[in-house]
Amino acid sequence: MKQAVVLILMVATCFGSTVKHQRRFPDDFVFGAATAAYQIEGAWNEDGKGENIWDHETHTNPTVVIDESNGDVAADSYHNYKRDVEMMRELGLDAYRFSISWSRILPTGFANEVNPAGIAYYNNLIDEMLKYNIAPLVTMFHFDMPKKLQDLGGILNPQFSDWFEDYARVVFENFGDRVMKFITFNEPKEYCILTLVGVGSDVKDPILNSMDVATYLCAKNLLLGHAKAYRLYDKEFREKYGGQCGITISVSWFEAATESPEDQEAVELRRQGEWGFFTHPIFSAEGGFPKELKEALTEKSAQENYSCSPLPDFTEEEKDLIRGTADFFGVNHYTAFLVSAIKKESVLTLPNVMNILDNFMFADDEWPKAASSWLTLAPNSIFKALSLLRTLYGDPIFYITENGWSTYEGRDLFDDDRVQYYRASMESMLNCLDAGIKLKGYMAWSLMDNFEWMQGYTERFGLYEVDFSDPARTRTPKKSAFVYKHIIKNRYVDY
Ligand code: NOJ
Repeated sequence: MKQAVVLILMVATCFGSTVKHQRRFPDDFVFGAATAAYQIEGAWNEDGKGENIWDHETHTNPTVVIDESNGDVAADSYHNYKRDVEMMRELGLDAYRFSISWSRILPTGFANEVNPAGIAYYNNLIDEMLKYNIAPLVTMFHFDMPKKLQDLGGILNPQFSDWFEDYARVVFENFGDRVMKFITFNEPKEYCILTLVGVGSDVKDPILNSMDVATYLCAKNLLLGHAKAYRLYDKEFREKYGGQCGITISVSWFEAATESPEDQEAVELRRQGEWGFFTHPIFSAEGGFPKELKEALTEKSAQENYSCSPLPDFTEEEKDLIRGTADFFGVNHYTAFLVSAIKKESVLTLPNVMNILDNFMFADDEWPKAASSWLTLAPNSIFKALSLLRTLYGDPIFYITENGWSTYEGRDLFDDDRVQYYRASMESMLNCLDAGIKLKGYMAWSLMDNFEWMQGYTERFGLYEVDFSDPARTRTPKKSAFVYKHIIKNRYVDY
């Protein structure tokens, strides 16, 4: 039955539309899709894999996930990787972004004990992709800290950056001959706020929430780890393999709700407090944390009678180590918010996760809403976000490393709202290309339905549906898969 539906969809999608106007993506524009290890792999304790913080937390404290589920099996990509590559071929992908599970290749997190079966799994996946000319984009850290490292304080331990560098060496040595693009960290802010506070620490110490102390310390250690891994690649692997190393930062579009000076100031602080404290140290000419954030935090600390700010300092040496450490800027872009200095009772305001950002953000009522509370479809937001980043950081090379739309569990294969979202993203990217922004590729999130962290399996982002009730985890393309395939093949959007 499903196969028949799929066939009808394919015919309707590929031949049913009338082309009125076309703007094209260049032939070398890289179209891909993305996933992450814990969200799809399963096999959480197979073949020598070590425990990570998500294994540990979901097993010991299941209510941390809304439906009390976990990634023990997930989409079972550990056993289904060949089917995954087949899906990439069905879509005609140029690239696939996946992440390496640190504790699958280094069970304790430390580089003195390598798990050969873990290395073999990623070798098999990479080789299978390369057979069909699908380029791997490898993320080295996508939220799944090895548990043994977490026991030692994880990212808050001052030695973290050295542990990460040692792990990076293992990754570069084993996969660098075939992987031309490495991403050190995925979404540092989200890790430093959501994962760090909610998952991974058995001690729910209030200090983790006070004055954002842990968040900023995490930011500093993560940036040092990123920089050390980048410098290592640059020094020892780049010449040999000719690849690139970058980072992926989540950049939502924040727009002032009104033109009032208060809202303008609020939006500026919001941008720096949401992504500036990762983008500025790496991509600005000046380096270090952004001055708007430093000033606001110093002022707030004084008001609350603290004699110092929670934002740690960088030495000049550290600033230099971090500055300029990205061959490309990976942007995860999903959504947009209006920002206001004054609370508006009429709109649903999203909770602030950081104390410093005591302004308010909300979505315009007109913007279509996804299943995830934070996700809407705002007009032309990729273009707006990249235009600002380009102005701030001197025209870097961008990849959209994630972009996608969630629907509720149980929805059918006719995901028209996701199709509408992807079409809008394509238009916004074409606007970037028209404006000369150096945008080189796009990874849809996600290749398939998967474990959506604290939302478990209640929100679905896949181009392919995964049947989680079926032990075989059968995958079936949704309408959005056919539309994306059509766009990739023709390099234009019909509308
Ligand atoms: C970004 C994260 O990198 C990914 O893990 C998550 O599933 C998507 N956002 C959707 O929330």
